[in-house]
Amino acid sequence: MIQALDPAAALSCSDELRHVYRAAFGAPGYDEDAAAAERFAAEQLPTHAGRAGFKLVAARGPDGELTGFAYGYTGERGQWWSDRIVETAPEIADDWVGGHFEFVELAVVPAAQGQGLGGALHDALMAHLPHSKALLSTYADDRPAPRLYRRKGWQLLHPDLTPTSALYGKKLR
Ligand SMILES: CC(C)(COP(=O)(O)OP(=O)(O)OC[C@H]1O[C@@H](n2cnc3c(N)ncnc32)[C@H](O)[C@@H]1OP(=O)(O)O)[C@@H](O)C(=O)NCCC(=O)NCCS
Repeated sequence: MIQALDPAAALSCSDELRHVYRAAFGAPGYDEDAAAAERFAAEQLPTHAGRAGFKLVAARGPDGELTGFAYGYTGERGQWWSDRIVETAPEIADDWVGGHFEFVELAVVPAAQGQGLGGALHDALMAHLPHSKALLSTYADDRPAPRLYRRKGWQLLHPDLTPTSALYGKKLR
């Protein structure tokens, strides 16, 4: 079951979100450490939950345990990440950066992967957004996340946003 959580509800289950983050991004091939999951829950999520347009969707399994989540917010110039995109990919900035939906995170616990949950969380997050365009950055190499986004109609805008990540965009109107 997938539910949308408002900022207060999202922050109230930040321990569970940290657990999902740790399981997904700590898996072999991703290899983020426990400190990264801690930073996500203690710093990144509270900062982003305070931004306009914040939307988080979360999935629970049959026993009520959190199995996956996705979230984003309205990206604006002046935000650190939006400004990095403008600096690194100036050729797409006028068309894409500012007032867009910034798709920040998507994670599914390994035990629940490969059954369509990531795709369903993506669709729930993107449904009924008021924005006319959306941006995300993901791994530049071939793995489930970029495959999922391409399947969902995202277009590659800049292949080497960082040495390991690529920038994708999607027009919503
Ligand atoms: C990316 C991620 C969220 C995808 O979650 P998921 O629940 O496995 O996603 P889906 O099940 O919708 O799709 C994954 C694969 O399963 C396949 N699949 C989906 N339903 C299926 C089914 N019923 N039977 C068989 N295969 C299925 C999809 O075709 C897809 O295949 P592909 O990777 O070869 O393209 C997950 O791999 C993850 O958490 N990764 C680590 C964190 C990460 O990379 N996050 C994104 C950062 S930008």
